[in-house]
Amino acid sequence: MKNYVIHDLPEYFKQYKKSIKNPKKFWDKIADENFVWYQRWNKVVKYDMENAKIEWFKNAKLNITKNCLDRHLNERGDKTAIIFEPNDPTEEAQHISYRDLHQRVCKMANVLTDLGVSKGDRVCIYLPMIPELAVSVLACAKMGAVHSVIFAGFSDTAVASRVNDCGAKVIICSDGSFRGNKSIDLKVIVDKAIEKTPLVEKVLVVKRTGCKVDFKEGRDFWLDDLFEKASPDFVTKIMDAEDPLFILYTSGSTGKPKGMLHTTAGYMVYTAYTFKNVFDYQENDIYWCTADIGWITGHSYIIYGPLLNGATTVIFEGVPTYPEPDRFWEVIEKHKITQFYTAPTAIRSLAKESADWVEKHDLSSLRVIGSVGEPINDEAWHWYNDHVGKKKCPIVDTWWQTETGGIMISPLPFITPTKPTYATLPMPGIQPVLMDDKRNEITGNQVDGNLCIRFPWPGIARTIWGDHQRYKETYFTAFPGKYFTGDGALRDEVGYYRITGRVDDIIIVSGHNLGTAPIEDSINLHPAVAESAIVGFPHDVKGSALYGFVILKDTGESRDKENLKKEINNVISDTMGPIAKLDKIQFVSALPKTRSGKIMRRILRKIAAGDFSNFGDTSTLLNPEIVDEIRDGKV
Ligand code: WT7
Repeated sequence: MKNYVIHDLPEYFKQYKKSIKNPKKFWDKIADENFVWYQRWNKVVKYDMENAKIEWFKNAKLNITKNCLDRHLNERGDKTAIIFEPNDPTEEAQHISYRDLHQRVCKMANVLTDLGVSKGDRVCIYLPMIPELAVSVLACAKMGAVHSVIFAGFSDTAVASRVNDCGAKVIICSDGSFRGNKSIDLKVIVDKAIEKTPLVEKVLVVKRTGCKVDFKEGRDFWLDDLFEKASPDFVTKIMDAEDPLFILYTSGSTGKPKGMLHTTAGYMVYTAYTFKNVFDYQENDIYWCTADIGWITGHSYIIYGPLLNGATTVIFEGVPTYPEPDRFWEVIEKHKITQFYTAPTAIRSLAKESADWVEKHDLSSLRVIGSVGEPINDEAWHWYNDHVGKKKCPIVDTWWQTETGGIMISPLPFITPTKPTYATLPMPGIQPVLMDDKRNEITGNQVDGNLCIRFPWPGIARTIWGDHQRYKETYFTAFPGKYFTGDGALRDEVGYYRITGRVDDIIIVSGHNLGTAPIEDSINLHPAVAESAIVGFPHDVKGSALYGFVILKDTGESRDKENLKKEINNVISDTMGPIAKLDKIQFVSALPKTRSGKIMRRILRKIAAGDFSNFGDTSTLLNPEIVDEIRDGKV
């Protein structure tokens, strides 16, 4: 366990240096000493950053679930692996032991086998935050099937495009989901999606809300019926280090979502190592991450990272404000949470409520509190520190991405002195570099630039499913030889990093990653719309919100503008899901475009933010007069 746990700052610097000087030796030791393998690797890492080909622990044989479940059974069989906290606080919480979880996973793997799933097949999982979601994910991993979890807030069109892209034949869903005082009929959405997915053969349905569902004979099955009869014995599949573990979709700046592919051994080593060190997890801790398993945070830090470390992890079905805005604080008190990991958007929305909601709960069990998903602003950082952490719990502001698999830059609690709004220092093995727009590396401190990573780390996604060319172009072309994150960052006088936000056409709304192009494509489906441009503008709860500039087709008829705005948002909701709805829509007669036809988004961003001070150089615009018109226009 020598390199696995870092105890103090000098040791961090020592480990960091070692990891950069000899990454192979560093990761070799961690992988060797902390996991069970059927067979060792014969090469730690092989990479070609020009062609974006990366392999870790080549030729090793393993199964990640042996490490998440089986190996804990002797020592931790009765220990709680998962605490399930239901949406409704009057419904009893469930404590699922490692032994019980292992058995459920084996049964589920048998159910899936009987439905025709085998190694290498893709399975789409469209479930709310209930234990069956974790069980399904782990069952896929145990049998070598590739899981692709689709966030249960996506629309039928979004589900269909993901199912088709990865070619899944089986979907696991539930009848419905509970969220606050609402319930959503998920099976109805799946039924609609399936009209557009010719490959889907079987649908496995978990009963949750008890709502009425239509069943298609021979295609749809209740999990309960099959689970009862399933054997609890399953022979774990032996996987290769680079066999696919899962596909998870994230927005791109153009066109369709990118199916990021994560593979087995590297992802396992990296999520386990970062979980232990970033959260200072100790044997009897109760860890809670409020993310949804439909996002990477849930994959790496609700399921895999915690279970790999034999931790107790909470799955929370509800929302922060139900039944009252103190639900988070109530759950922390109830389960004596020691590590709490949430998003700035949740912190900002709860900070708007009276501080009494927090103060009335005993949060003294907390030791470490974390933040992820977007830059945390100064005000939210201090509110979190004062009211939740009581100035005693270090805030780990963790920067990473779907593509990175695990946390890349973060303070280590009780080790790295924190600084508000700073993600601080890189994890061992991570080499951040700042690049200027001319592709030169910016050295020294007190500088800012485009954030790149120099050397591959075990958790990096290996490709975009079915489109390696796009993977290479998106991440390895802008700054040859390096991985480009799409974020801007600054490095302060001591070398701490602060992430300043996206430098590409991705907008982060309430922690959700949204590409402008797919939203524009969606709006343009409305028959009255000729063209549109989406930009983000600052929003005090969501971080950024969406502002659409829309050109209508000239039909000679006059139309009710307010009604049109609603219709446009409905189209977005239907094609992408409600998270992508626009907060503001402004109808314009043209968009500011350069001679090469590119929309000058910089100007639109300033107008959307209400900042009319200085539009900079507009001389390359084909239609500079439009700027004043848009500035003076009404929303
Ligand atoms: C983008 C990745 C990583 C899991 C959740 C989001 C932004 C993420 C931080 C942070 C500033 C952050 C970046 C990044 N981001 N964490 N601590 N400080 N920005 O995963 O959906 O793939 O989004 O989220 O812009 O590129 P994702």
